[in-house]
Amino acid sequence: MNIPFEKSRELQERAFQRLPLGVNSNFRFWGEGITPYVQKAKGGYLWDADGNRFIDYRLAFGPIILGHAYDEVDNQVIEEIRKGTLFAMTSELEIAVAEKITALCPAVEMVRFACSGTEATMHALRVARAYTGREKIIKFEGNYHGFQDYMLFSTYAPAESYGSRHNPIPIPSSSGIPKALNSLVVTLPFNDFEVLDKTLRHIGHDVAAIITEAAQDNCGAIEPLPGWLDFIRQQCNEYGIVFILDEVKTGFRIARGGAQEVYHIKPDLATYAKSIANGYPLAAFGGKKEIMSVIGHGVAQGGTYNNNKPGVAAAYTTLDLIQNQPILETIEKRGRRLMDGFRQIFDDAGIVACINGHPAMFTFAVGVEKVTCQRDWNNSDKDLYLRWVDAAIERGIMPDHDPREPWFLCYSHSDADIDETLNVMADVVKKVGR
Ligand SMILES: Cc1ncc(COP(=O)(O)O)c(C=O)c1O
Repeated sequence: MNIPFEKSRELQERAFQRLPLGVNSNFRFWGEGITPYVQKAKGGYLWDADGNRFIDYRLAFGPIILGHAYDEVDNQVIEEIRKGTLFAMTSELEIAVAEKITALCPAVEMVRFACSGTEATMHALRVARAYTGREKIIKFEGNYHGFQDYMLFSTYAPAESYGSRHNPIPIPSSSGIPKALNSLVVTLPFNDFEVLDKTLRHIGHDVAAIITEAAQDNCGAIEPLPGWLDFIRQQCNEYGIVFILDEVKTGFRIARGGAQEVYHIKPDLATYAKSIANGYPLAAFGGKKEIMSVIGHGVAQGGTYNNNKPGVAAAYTTLDLIQNQPILETIEKRGRRLMDGFRQIFDDAGIVACINGHPAMFTFAVGVEKVTCQRDWNNSDKDLYLRWVDAAIERGIMPDHDPREPWFLCYSHSDADIDETLNVMADVVKKVGR
């Protein structure tokens, strides 16, 4: 790093002694001597431990939809926590948040809360299994649905290890995942109609759920091909499978009604976290009343912190602002300017790159014209992408240090921030080259 970085290095040395990799989530470790440690954040900006200021496009992996330390949300949280934080009883505020979620999300008739996206997908899978009386789950290569054992398969591996796309090998993303789960999790390439169709002809009646992100927002923001999500919907209808749409990243970010609204798709269940509470810990899963109603009738779901007051209070205000003010429209407009600007920069420099995703959450793959699944995204020039990211960070622009992760926008990013970002990226592409 060619910026002051002594304090971050010092903190990393200290953290190495007590925290594996010096962090509390593997994704936050960028490498020895290059991992930033944070001091504070406000609006669209983040300051690292050395006082370097960045325009923040990581936004904590997406939850910050309004801006860091957003006063309206924080004030509501402070007011509410003065009345107590946890009761193991249900409050009116929590019912109001459930009503807001069901009002905004077309496919959600009933919800239950959780604390993280991982828990939301875990609970949704159990409900789907209980409802169908089946055990197998289909997920798509490159999608990420949290750290629970059932879903940590084929998230990121060398393309060869996935085997033939007609007969994919589910690759656990960690040691410690029981081998027995390999027989319950089927991984398939995203956007591959033929392979999904063929697979369901064989095992369709044993499948409890197909879970997917609408776009691959944990792998280059790869968009669904026209008809892909509808095809999943139809196939689920045909085989009696529960369709779970993981809206942990898309929910309350790409539209008020999330991916359901953007892609006109009605899943049976959907999962939420991140933008629901602008960075406070709240998650939810919900969907058809008929399916959700199995909970409490032989199906277990709960958690001490599921209705934690900071999360619930933050969700109430965040959803209220999203519902009633042109927040997402403003984010979309600024994100569109950024996407168009990147396109211009690449075209001017004669660089082949495809830009993917929604303006509120997008990224680009370098050296490839088009990507439709993780297998072809793997052919993109990830090293060059990272060299550009390193150079951008040294110039005050911070996307994530992982080519899979999108650039996130928030309401606090200004037009001036977008101009600065485009100037920096034009300079980076010119100076770092290809
Ligand atoms: C689509 C998706 N699902 C689930 C999760 C897990 O959420 P959490 O990190 O809150 O457990 C993530 C996290 O990035 C995600 O992107």
